[in-house]
Amino acid sequence: MALLADPEVAASLLRWHLDAGVDLALDDEPHDRFAESREQSARRVALGRESPQAQGVSGSSSNAGAGPNRPPAPGLQRAAPVAPLEAAETARALAASARTLDELRAVLESFDGCSLKATATRLVFADGNPESPLMLVGEAPGGDEDRQGKPFVGRAGRLLDKMLLAIGLDRRHVYIANIIPWRPPGNRTPTPQETAICLPFIQRQIELAAPRLLVTLGAPSTQTLLGVKDGIMRSRGRWMNCSIGGRTIPTLPTLHPAYLLRQPAHKRLSWRDLLAVKKALDAS
Ligand code: URA
Repeated sequence: MALLADPEVAASLLRWHLDAGVDLALDDEPHDRFAESREQSARRVALGRESPQAQGVSGSSSNAGAGPNRPPAPGLQRAAPVAPLEAAETARALAASARTLDELRAVLESFDGCSLKATATRLVFADGNPESPLMLVGEAPGGDEDRQGKPFVGRAGRLLDKMLLAIGLDRRHVYIANIIPWRPPGNRTPTPQETAICLPFIQRQIELAAPRLLVTLGAPSTQTLLGVKDGIMRSRGRWMNCSIGGRTIPTLPTLHPAYLLRQPAHKRLSWRDLLAVKKALDAS
């Protein structure tokens, strides 16, 4: 405490946080999420929705130090991460209940199962034309998208606009969304749990928009929607099938425009992919 009273130490601590990507204060006091998870689990046992074995510690504090990467003590199991599973189940039911894109947006606006919503300014649902034959899917909104409530409106989005223009398209001709519709704090990578919770919504969004062709922008969107493990350098430029809602949509993975801003020499690869998209659009 005394150290933090020193303005220079406090300023350098703030700088350290900023450099690490933390650009948002959530609270004045730290929270022990592991303790919260144990309490939730104990409540579920009390309600008979989980066995004491799955909960692991039956309310004792002997697992208090167990973090995500620490093995549980012998004979004990780590508290089960029940909340994300439940949230993903709820997400699936809610997404399936939406009959139109407007209903899906409304469902997302009222869904509280993804903690990213609490730190984001607003939902970033989609931009462009939902009637378009071509849908592009990125990973997650950044700061500009979070402020404006539309996907791909920052630097990467401006490059995406130029790329589309190069094949004669603009936002009137494409429909754009992300796997994750809320900005992760500090633009960090979404966790696998956050992705699993949001997946039913983007799948339903694709199903309802029913594009003839899909383009996945970057590895996270490609791996999540197509279930491939390959990195984007291997998967880009290869047409694959995305099976959603009983339909198979031809899908082309390509490089993410944010990556192209860092590696402009790879724009020639994207150009090839864009030409393949144009050819497929013209033929379909
Ligand atoms: N990157 C993404 O993946 N999506 C956006 O909306 C913006 C940047």
